[in-house]
Amino acid sequence: MRLADKVTLITGASSGMGRAAAHTFAREGATVVVTDVEDADGTAVAEEIRATGGQAEYRRLDVTDEASWTAAIADVLERYGKLDVLVNNAGISGTFDPDLTSTEFYDRLMQVNARGVFLGIKHGAAAMSGRGGSIVNLTSISASIGQPGVHLGYGASKAAIKSMTTTASVHYARDGIRVNAVAPGVLPPMRTSRGSTDPVWRAKQIEGIPMGRAGEVQEVADVILFLASAESSYVTGVEILADGGFTAQ
Ligand SMILES: NC(=O)c1ccc[n+]([C@@H]2O[C@H](COP(=O)([O-])OP(=O)(O)OC[C@H]3O[C@@H](n4cnc5c(N)ncnc54)[C@H](O)[C@@H]3O)[C@@H](O)[C@H]2O)c1
Repeated sequence: MRLADKVTLITGASSGMGRAAAHTFAREGATVVVTDVEDADGTAVAEEIRATGGQAEYRRLDVTDEASWTAAIADVLERYGKLDVLVNNAGISGTFDPDLTSTEFYDRLMQVNARGVFLGIKHGAAAMSGRGGSIVNLTSISASIGQPGVHLGYGASKAAIKSMTTTASVHYARDGIRVNAVAPGVLPPMRTSRGSTDPVWRAKQIEGIPMGRAGEVQEVADVILFLASAESSYVTGVEILADGGFTAQ
Protein backbone atom coordinates (compact mmCIF):
# COMPACT_ATOMS: atom_id res chain seq x y z
CA MET A 1 0.00 0.00 0.00
CA ARG A 2 1.53 3.26 -1.14
CA LEU A 3 -0.32 5.56 1.26
CA ALA A 4 -0.71 3.34 4.33
CA ASP A 5 -1.49 5.37 7.48
CA LYS A 6 -1.47 8.64 5.55
CA VAL A 7 -4.06 11.31 6.28
CA THR A 8 -5.09 13.03 3.07
CA LEU A 9 -7.43 15.86 2.12
CA ILE A 10 -8.66 16.40 -1.44
CA THR A 11 -10.58 19.50 -2.52
CA GLY A 12 -13.29 19.28 -5.15
CA ALA A 13 -13.41 15.53 -4.60
CA SER A 14 -17.11 14.99 -5.27
CA SER A 15 -16.56 14.43 -9.00
CA GLY A 16 -14.08 13.96 -11.82
CA MET A 17 -10.38 13.68 -11.04
CA GLY A 18 -10.78 14.53 -7.35
CA ARG A 19 -13.25 11.69 -6.92
CA ALA A 20 -10.92 9.31 -8.79
CA ALA A 21 -8.00 10.40 -6.61
CA ALA A 22 -10.09 9.86 -3.45
CA HIS A 23 -10.87 6.27 -4.45
CA THR A 24 -7.24 5.67 -5.48
CA PHE A 25 -5.86 7.04 -2.21
CA ALA A 26 -8.29 4.92 -0.17
CA ARG A 27 -7.31 1.77 -2.10
CA GLU A 28 -3.69 2.58 -1.21
CA GLY A 29 -4.48 2.64 2.50
CA ALA A 30 -5.00 6.37 3.12
CA THR A 31 -7.64 8.03 5.25
CA VAL A 32 -9.34 10.39 2.83
CA VAL A 33 -11.06 13.62 3.78
CA VAL A 34 -13.28 14.23 0.77
CA THR A 35 -14.15 17.93 0.49
CA ASP A 36 -16.27 20.00 -1.88
CA VAL A 37 -19.19 22.41 -1.95
CA GLU A 38 -21.47 19.81 -3.56
CA ASP A 39 -22.50 18.13 -0.32
CA ALA A 40 -24.71 15.34 -1.65
CA ASP A 41 -22.15 14.11 -4.19
CA GLY A 42 -19.26 14.47 -1.74
CA THR A 43 -21.13 12.49 0.91
CA ALA A 44 -21.81 9.80 -1.70
CA VAL A 45 -18.09 9.54 -2.60
CA ALA A 46 -17.16 9.04 1.05
CA GLU A 47 -19.92 6.43 1.40
CA GLU A 48 -18.73 4.59 -1.73
CA ILE A 49 -15.22 4.42 -0.29
CA ARG A 50 -16.41 3.15 3.09
CA ALA A 51 -18.63 0.58 1.37
CA THR A 52 -15.55 -0.92 -0.25
CA GLY A 53 -13.63 -1.09 3.04
CA GLY A 54 -11.77 2.23 2.76
CA GLN A 55 -11.56 5.06 5.26
CA ALA A 56 -13.21 8.32 4.22
CA GLU A 57 -15.37 11.13 5.48
CA TYR A 58 -16.97 14.07 3.73
CA ARG A 59 -16.48 17.63 4.89
CA ARG A 60 -17.72 20.82 3.24
CA LEU A 61 -14.82 23.09 2.26
CA ASP A 62 -15.29 26.13 0.05
CA VAL A 63 -11.74 26.75 -1.15
CA THR A 64 -12.35 30.49 -1.65
CA ASP A 65 -13.19 31.01 2.01
CA GLU A 66 -10.28 31.29 4.44
CA ALA A 67 -12.45 30.56 7.49
CA SER A 68 -13.57 27.35 5.77
CA TRP A 69 -9.91 26.30 5.38
CA THR A 70 -9.07 27.13 8.99
CA ALA A 71 -12.00 25.09 10.27
CA ALA A 72 -11.35 22.11 7.96
CA ILE A 73 -7.65 21.85 8.79
CA ALA A 74 -8.30 22.26 12.53
CA ASP A 75 -10.87 19.49 12.29
CA VAL A 76 -8.44 17.15 10.50
CA LEU A 77 -5.71 17.79 13.07
CA GLU A 78 -8.12 17.22 15.93
CA ARG A 79 -9.50 13.98 14.50
CA TYR A 80 -6.37 12.44 13.02
CA GLY A 81 -3.47 14.34 14.62
CA LYS A 82 -1.75 15.18 11.31
CA LEU A 83 -2.11 15.96 7.61
CA ASP A 84 0.24 14.13 5.22
CA VAL A 85 -1.14 14.92 1.78
CA LEU A 86 -3.20 17.80 0.39
CA VAL A 87 -4.54 17.76 -3.16
CA ASN A 88 -5.66 21.20 -4.37
CA ASN A 89 -7.95 19.90 -7.08
CA ALA A 90 -11.09 22.09 -6.86
CA GLY A 91 -11.57 24.40 -9.79
CA ILE A 92 -14.03 25.91 -12.23
CA SER A 93 -13.91 25.67 -16.01
CA GLY A 94 -12.79 28.38 -18.38
CA THR A 95 -15.61 27.47 -20.74
CA PHE A 96 -18.52 28.26 -18.39
CA ASP A 97 -19.23 31.81 -19.55
CA PRO A 98 -19.60 32.25 -23.34
CA ASP A 99 -18.29 35.83 -22.91
CA LEU A 100 -14.59 34.99 -22.95
CA THR A 101 -13.74 38.51 -21.74
CA SER A 102 -16.30 38.75 -18.91
CA THR A 103 -14.67 40.71 -16.08
CA GLU A 104 -17.01 39.20 -13.51
CA PHE A 105 -16.02 35.68 -14.57
CA TYR A 106 -12.33 36.63 -14.60
CA ASP A 107 -12.68 37.54 -10.93
CA ARG A 108 -14.48 34.27 -10.17
CA LEU A 109 -11.78 32.21 -11.93
CA MET A 110 -9.11 33.93 -9.86
CA GLN A 111 -11.14 33.47 -6.67
CA VAL A 112 -11.71 29.75 -7.02
CA ASN A 113 -8.70 28.53 -9.00
CA ALA A 114 -5.86 30.81 -7.86
CA ARG A 115 -6.94 32.07 -4.42
CA GLY A 116 -8.33 28.61 -3.59
CA VAL A 117 -4.92 27.00 -4.15
CA PHE A 118 -3.10 29.85 -2.39
CA LEU A 119 -5.20 29.31 0.73
CA GLY A 120 -4.75 25.55 0.44
CA ILE A 121 -0.96 25.81 0.33
CA LYS A 122 -0.93 28.33 3.17
CA HIS A 123 -3.08 26.30 5.57
CA GLY A 124 -1.99 22.88 4.36
CA ALA A 125 1.71 23.63 4.75
CA ALA A 126 1.13 25.10 8.22
CA ALA A 127 -0.53 21.84 9.24
CA MET A 128 2.36 19.78 7.79
CA SER A 129 5.10 21.90 9.31
CA GLY A 130 7.49 19.91 11.48
CA ARG A 131 6.41 16.55 10.03
CA GLY A 132 6.64 17.08 6.27
CA GLY A 133 4.13 16.18 3.62
CA SER A 134 3.12 16.42 0.00
CA ILE A 135 0.96 19.04 -1.70
CA VAL A 136 -0.31 18.35 -5.22
CA ASN A 137 -1.92 21.15 -7.23
CA LEU A 138 -4.04 20.74 -10.35
CA THR A 139 -2.98 23.11 -13.09
CA SER A 140 -3.82 22.61 -16.79
CA ILE A 141 -2.19 22.71 -20.20
CA SER A 142 -4.00 26.07 -20.42
CA ALA A 143 -1.34 27.48 -18.06
CA SER A 144 1.17 27.11 -20.89
CA ILE A 145 -0.72 27.12 -24.21
CA GLY A 146 -3.69 28.92 -25.73
CA GLN A 147 -6.89 27.08 -26.62
CA PRO A 148 -9.83 28.51 -28.57
CA GLY A 149 -13.09 29.03 -26.68
CA VAL A 150 -11.47 29.28 -23.27
CA HIS A 151 -11.93 32.40 -21.11
CA LEU A 152 -8.92 34.73 -21.10
CA GLY A 153 -8.56 34.31 -17.34
CA TYR A 154 -8.60 30.50 -17.10
CA GLY A 155 -5.04 29.90 -18.26
CA ALA A 156 -3.95 32.86 -16.15
CA SER A 157 -5.52 31.32 -13.05
CA LYS A 158 -3.74 28.04 -13.78
CA ALA A 159 -0.44 29.81 -14.52
CA ALA A 160 -0.76 31.41 -11.08
CA ILE A 161 -1.03 27.91 -9.59
CA LYS A 162 1.97 26.74 -11.62
CA SER A 163 4.00 29.66 -10.29
CA MET A 164 2.85 29.16 -6.70
CA THR A 165 3.87 25.50 -7.02
CA THR A 166 7.48 26.37 -7.78
CA THR A 167 7.65 29.19 -5.24
CA ALA A 168 6.09 27.09 -2.47
CA SER A 169 8.34 24.12 -3.31
CA VAL A 170 11.39 26.24 -2.56
CA HIS A 171 9.79 27.94 0.43
CA TYR A 172 8.81 24.71 2.20
CA ALA A 173 11.59 22.35 1.04
CA ARG A 174 13.55 22.48 4.32
CA ASP A 175 10.33 21.66 6.16
CA GLY A 176 10.13 18.36 4.26
CA ILE A 177 7.06 19.52 2.38
CA ARG A 178 7.07 18.78 -1.34
CA VAL A 179 4.86 20.84 -3.65
CA ASN A 180 4.16 19.65 -7.18
CA ALA A 181 1.54 20.01 -9.88
CA VAL A 182 -0.28 17.86 -12.41
CA ALA A 183 -1.38 19.49 -15.66
CA PRO A 184 -4.16 17.53 -17.36
CA GLY A 185 -4.89 18.05 -21.03
CA VAL A 186 -8.29 17.18 -22.47
CA LEU A 187 -10.23 15.12 -19.92
CA PRO A 188 -13.97 14.53 -19.51
CA PRO A 189 -15.70 17.92 -19.17
CA MET A 190 -15.75 19.56 -15.77
CA ARG A 191 -18.97 20.00 -13.83
CA THR A 192 -18.87 23.70 -14.78
CA SER A 193 -17.88 23.22 -18.44
CA ARG A 194 -20.13 24.65 -21.12
CA GLY A 195 -18.15 25.40 -24.30
CA SER A 196 -15.88 22.36 -23.94
CA THR A 197 -18.89 20.01 -23.86
CA ASP A 198 -19.57 20.91 -27.51
CA PRO A 199 -18.87 17.73 -29.53
CA VAL A 200 -17.39 19.76 -32.40
CA TRP A 201 -14.96 21.56 -30.02
CA ARG A 202 -14.00 18.26 -28.41
CA ALA A 203 -13.47 16.44 -31.71
CA LYS A 204 -11.19 19.24 -32.88
CA GLN A 205 -9.17 19.17 -29.66
CA ILE A 206 -8.84 15.39 -29.74
CA GLU A 207 -7.70 15.51 -33.36
CA GLY A 208 -4.74 17.60 -32.15
CA ILE A 209 -3.66 15.13 -29.45
CA PRO A 210 -0.77 12.89 -30.58
CA MET A 211 -2.22 9.93 -28.67
CA GLY A 212 -5.51 10.51 -30.50
CA ARG A 213 -7.82 10.40 -27.51
CA ALA A 214 -8.92 12.29 -24.39
CA GLY A 215 -7.47 11.29 -21.04
CA GLU A 216 -9.34 9.30 -18.39
CA VAL A 217 -9.71 10.57 -14.83
CA GLN A 218 -7.88 7.50 -13.49
CA GLU A 219 -4.85 8.38 -15.61
CA VAL A 220 -4.61 11.71 -13.81
CA ALA A 221 -5.38 10.16 -10.40
CA ASP A 222 -2.42 7.82 -10.89
CA VAL A 223 -0.06 10.78 -11.43
CA ILE A 224 -1.50 12.48 -8.34
CA LEU A 225 -0.85 9.24 -6.41
CA PHE A 226 2.78 9.18 -7.56
CA LEU A 227 3.34 12.77 -6.39
CA ALA A 228 1.51 12.12 -3.10
CA SER A 229 3.48 8.97 -2.28
CA ALA A 230 7.07 8.38 -1.15
CA GLU A 231 7.90 7.13 -4.66
CA SER A 232 8.41 10.80 -5.57
CA SER A 233 10.40 11.61 -2.41
CA TYR A 234 13.07 13.62 -4.30
CA VAL A 235 10.61 15.38 -6.61
CA THR A 236 9.48 18.91 -5.80
CA GLY A 237 8.54 22.02 -7.76
CA VAL A 238 7.61 20.16 -10.94
CA GLU A 239 4.53 20.11 -13.12
CA ILE A 240 3.81 16.71 -14.69
CA LEU A 241 1.80 16.89 -17.88
CA ALA A 242 -0.90 14.28 -18.38
CA ASP A 243 -1.99 15.36 -21.83
CA GLY A 244 -1.33 12.57 -24.33
CA GLY A 245 1.48 14.59 -25.88
CA PHE A 246 -0.68 17.66 -26.62
CA THR A 247 1.96 20.20 -25.59
CA ALA A 248 4.95 18.18 -26.81
CA GLN A 249 4.34 19.12 -30.45
N1 LIG B 1 -11.59 18.30 -17.11
C1 LIG B 1 -10.59 18.80 -17.80
O1 LIG B 1 -10.55 18.71 -19.04
C2 LIG B 1 -9.44 19.50 -17.09
C3 LIG B 1 -8.30 19.80 -17.83
C4 LIG B 1 -7.24 20.44 -17.22
C5 LIG B 1 -7.29 20.75 -15.86
N2 LIG B 1 -8.42 20.44 -15.16
C6 LIG B 1 -8.41 20.79 -13.73
O2 LIG B 1 -8.50 19.61 -12.94
C7 LIG B 1 -9.21 19.86 -11.73
C8 LIG B 1 -10.35 18.87 -11.58
O3 LIG B 1 -11.22 19.01 -12.70
P1 LIG B 1 -12.41 17.98 -13.03
O4 LIG B 1 -12.40 17.78 -14.49
O5 LIG B 1 -12.37 16.83 -12.13
O6 LIG B 1 -13.66 18.95 -12.71
P2 LIG B 1 -15.00 18.72 -11.85
O7 LIG B 1 -15.85 19.91 -12.15
O8 LIG B 1 -15.54 17.37 -12.09
O9 LIG B 1 -14.44 18.79 -10.36
C9 LIG B 1 -14.09 20.00 -9.74
C10 LIG B 1 -14.76 20.06 -8.39
O10 LIG B 1 -14.42 21.31 -7.76
C11 LIG B 1 -15.56 21.70 -7.01
N3 LIG B 1 -15.54 23.12 -6.69
C12 LIG B 1 -15.83 24.17 -7.50
N4 LIG B 1 -15.76 25.31 -6.81
C13 LIG B 1 -15.39 24.99 -5.54
C14 LIG B 1 -15.16 25.73 -4.37
N5 LIG B 1 -15.30 27.07 -4.33
N6 LIG B 1 -14.79 25.07 -3.24
C15 LIG B 1 -14.67 23.72 -3.26
N7 LIG B 1 -14.90 22.96 -4.32
C16 LIG B 1 -15.26 23.59 -5.46
C17 LIG B 1 -16.74 21.32 -7.88
O11 LIG B 1 -17.95 21.22 -7.11
C18 LIG B 1 -16.30 20.00 -8.49
O12 LIG B 1 -16.78 18.90 -7.75
C19 LIG B 1 -9.66 21.32 -11.82
O13 LIG B 1 -8.77 22.14 -11.09
C20 LIG B 1 -9.58 21.63 -13.29
O14 LIG B 1 -9.38 23.00 -13.55
C21 LIG B 1 -9.49 19.83 -15.74
